[in-house]
Amino acid sequence: MATKKTNDENSARGYLKRISGPVVEVSNLTDAKLYDVLRVGKQGLIGEIIKIVGNTCIVQVYEDTSRLKPGEPVENTEQPLSVELGPGLLKNIYDGIQRPLKDIEAKSGHYITRGINVPPLPRDIKWEFTAKVKIGERVKVGDIIGEVQETELILHRILSPYEGIINKIKSGKYTVEQEIGEITVGGKKNNLYMYQKWFVRIPRPCAEKFPPIIPLITGQRIIDTFFPVSKGGTAAIPGPFGSGKTVTQQSLAKYSDTEIVVYIGCGERGNEMTEVLTEFPHLKDDKTGKPLMERTVLIANTSNMPVAAREASIYTGITIAEYYRDMGYNVALMADSTSRWAEALREIGGRLEEMPGEEGYPAYLARRLAEFYERAGRVQTLGKDERYGSISIIGAVSPPGGDISEPVSQNTLRVTKVFLALDAALAQRRHFPAINWLMSYSLYKDSLDEWFRTNVAHDFPGMRDKAMELLQKEAELQEIVQLVGPDALPDKEQVVLFVTKMLREDFLQQNAYSEIDAKASFKKQYLMLKSIIFFYEKAIHAIDIGVQLKKIQDNLVTMKIGRMKEIKENELEKLSELHKEIDVSFTEIVKK
Ligand SMILES: Nc1ncnc2c1ncn2[C@@H]1O[C@H](COP(=O)(O)OP(=O)(O)OP(=O)(O)O)[C@@H](O)[C@H]1O
Ligand SMILES: [Mg+2]
Repeated sequence: MATKKTNDENSARGYLKRISGPVVEVSNLTDAKLYDVLRVGKQGLIGEIIKIVGNTCIVQVYEDTSRLKPGEPVENTEQPLSVELGPGLLKNIYDGIQRPLKDIEAKSGHYITRGINVPPLPRDIKWEFTAKVKIGERVKVGDIIGEVQETELILHRILSPYEGIINKIKSGKYTVEQEIGEITVGGKKNNLYMYQKWFVRIPRPCAEKFPPIIPLITGQRIIDTFFPVSKGGTAAIPGPFGSGKTVTQQSLAKYSDTEIVVYIGCGERGNEMTEVLTEFPHLKDDKTGKPLMERTVLIANTSNMPVAAREASIYTGITIAEYYRDMGYNVALMADSTSRWAEALREIGGRLEEMPGEEGYPAYLARRLAEFYERAGRVQTLGKDERYGSISIIGAVSPPGGDISEPVSQNTLRVTKVFLALDAALAQRRHFPAINWLMSYSLYKDSLDEWFRTNVAHDFPGMRDKAMELLQKEAELQEIVQLVGPDALPDKEQVVLFVTKMLREDFLQQNAYSEIDAKASFKKQYLMLKSIIFFYEKAIHAIDIGVQLKKIQDNLVTMKIGRMKEIKENELEKLSELHKEIDVSFTEIVKK
C-alpha cells in the first residue's frame, strides 16, 4: 500500500521543461490525462494540459508565466478544470478561472498575486438552508433537496448530485463546507453539501430540450419586433469598432425577461469592463427596483489578463448559467467578445506549432464555437418536479475592419440563429442601435409567430412583415432617388419614403440611455408600429382619391408620431388616442 502511495505521488509531479508565453512543456507526469489541471512552478500557477506527446505534456497556463524557469516543479491535481456551484455565485465578480476578484483584492491588493488560492464561493457566510426532503426519502440526481435565499431576488435551489436515500438532513444555518445531511448511494454513505463541483468542459445534463417557441423579451424594438431571439436561443452581434456591441449586450442584460444574467467580459479593453463593473452594481432591476447584481454573475477577463484564461472564462460562464438553468431559471448569457477567445485559441494553437486553418485560426475553431452555442436551449431539467429553464446566448463578435467574411464571424453565423448586423455607417449617423435591418435576420421568426399572435396581437406578425417590406422598398427607391432626386418618384413611392423615415427614426431608433425609451414593452412596440402602418394605409388611400402629397407630408399628426417613444409605459392609452387622431387628421385632409 505504502509503495503505491509513493508511485502516485511521483506520477503527479513533474518539472518544467520549456516555456513559451502562456504555453509550457512539462516532463515526467506519467499518469497525466488530457485536460488535467496542473499547478505550475513554485508559485503554483493554474494550467491545463491541452496536448500530450510521449512523456511531455503541453500545458496552457491561465496566469502570467513571466519569470518561470525550466526545472521548476509541476503538480498534477488529476482533476479537469472545474467550477464551484452553490450559493454565493450571484453578486460575485470572477476572473476566467472563477477566482473572486473582490476577495483577491482584499488579500493581494490591486494586482492579482500569481498562484493565489482563494476559493470561488465564500467560506465564511452562513446560509439559511431549508430542507425540502425528508429522512428516508429516495431522491434522484437533480431533485431539489433544499433552498437558500441567495439574494433578495433569487431563491437558490440545492439540487441533489446523487441518486440515493436521504439518511440525514436538517434545516439550519450552514457555510458551504458544512454538511447539511447524508445520503446513501448504493450502500455507500456520502455527505451532502450546499455546493458541488462541475467540470466546465462537460455540459450539465437535462431531461429534454424544447423547440424555440417562446421569445426572449428584450425591450429592444428592432430585436423583439424584427429579429426576435427565442428563450434558449442564440444570437450573434458582429460589428466593427465602436458600433454598439457592448451597449447592446448591456441593454439585453438589463432588460431581458430572464431571472439570471451571466456576463462574460472576454479579452475586451479594461475600461469597457470597468464600465460594466462600475455600472452594473448601480443598475436597478427593472421589475423590483433592487440592484441588478442581485441576479447577476460577472466574469471579467480583460485584454491585459492572460490570454489562455479567455477560453476558461467562456466555459466557466456557461457552466454557471447551466447551473441556474437547472434550478428552473431563465438565464441570459452575454459573451463580449467571442473574437478575443478565438484569438486566444489562435495564439495558443500557434505556439503548439499546429497546422493552422483559415487566417491562422486552429482547425477546431468551428467545433469549439459550435459546442459553446449548443449549450444554449430551453429545457426540462432533471429532477422529479417539473422544472423548466433556459439559457439564451448572445455573443458579440469583433471582426477586424468590420468585415464579416472572416472565420470567427462566419463560423459563428453558421451556428447562431439570429444575426444582428451592426453597421458602422448607421453608428456614424448616430442611428442607434446601429443594427442594419436589411442585413440582419432571425431564424426564429416563424416559430415564434404563433406566440406573437396569441400574446401580442393577431395582426402583429403581418404588420411587422409589412413594415419590413416597406423598409426593403425604401432601399430600392433610394437608389433611384440618388440618380434622379425624390420628385421624380410617383406620389405613392414618395409616401413610402416618408413613412420609412418614420419607421427608422420613430420606431427603430432607441436610445439606450433614455430613461423612458431604453426599454419598450411588447404592447408599446405593437401600438407604435400600428400607428405608423395605419398612417401609411391612410396616406395611400388619400393619394388614391386625389389628395396632394404635400398635404400628407404637412399633416401635423406626424409630430405626435415622432414623440411616441416618450410615452411612458403606464400611459399607453395615449397611443390608442394617437390612432384616433391619425384617423381624424386624414378625414380632415380628405374633406379639404
Ligand atoms: N443603443 C444605443 N443608444 C445610444 N447610444 C449608443 C447605442 N449603441 C451604441 N451607442 C453609442 O456608441 C458608442 C459605442 O458603443 P459600444 O461601446 O457598445 O461599441 P462596441 O461595438 O462595443 O465597440 P468596441 O469594438 O470598441 O468594443 C457608445 O459609447 C454609445 O455612445
Ligand atoms: Mg465593446
